[in-house]
Amino acid sequence: MTRFTVNGQPVHYRMDPETPLLFALRDASNLTGTKYGCGMGQCGACTVIIDGQAVRSCQVTIAQVEGGFVTTIEGLSRDRSHPVQQAFAAEWAVQCGHCTPGFVMAAAALIVGNANPSDLEIDRALTNLCPCGTYPRVRRAVRRAAS
Ligand code: FES
Repeated sequence: MTRFTVNGQPVHYRMDPETPLLFALRDASNLTGTKYGCGMGQCGACTVIIDGQAVRSCQVTIAQVEGGFVTTIEGLSRDRSHPVQQAFAAEWAVQCGHCTPGFVMAAAALIVGNANPSDLEIDRALTNLCPCGTYPRVRRAVRRAAS
């Protein structure tokens, strides 16, 4: 059995410890805001925050998260939209929306430690892929959320 915390709640999964965190979140915890994109660590659609760091959840097993603190898009903000979510809406940084939760999680992790990220820092922290090409609007949204 693997135990850790997801969105402030203790979880224990009775599944193969090598199960990718992404599948445990989506299939066992019904936290479907975390998206499957490539399953290969390339697209970032599955990004969650683990112990303060943006992590691609398709690339970590639940065993690797043992004892850790996971935040998904559902747990990013309890009562109202997180500033990053508000900024994404204000800057129209969403098109089809499939990649958006991953971008939001990566941006949220970035601005916790950096209240004034440069374009280069944003580009380095958000290597997520958006087939719709919202990158300029995403960058503006991250700057808005950080300010
Ligand atoms: Fe995890 Fe693409 S689904 S990086």
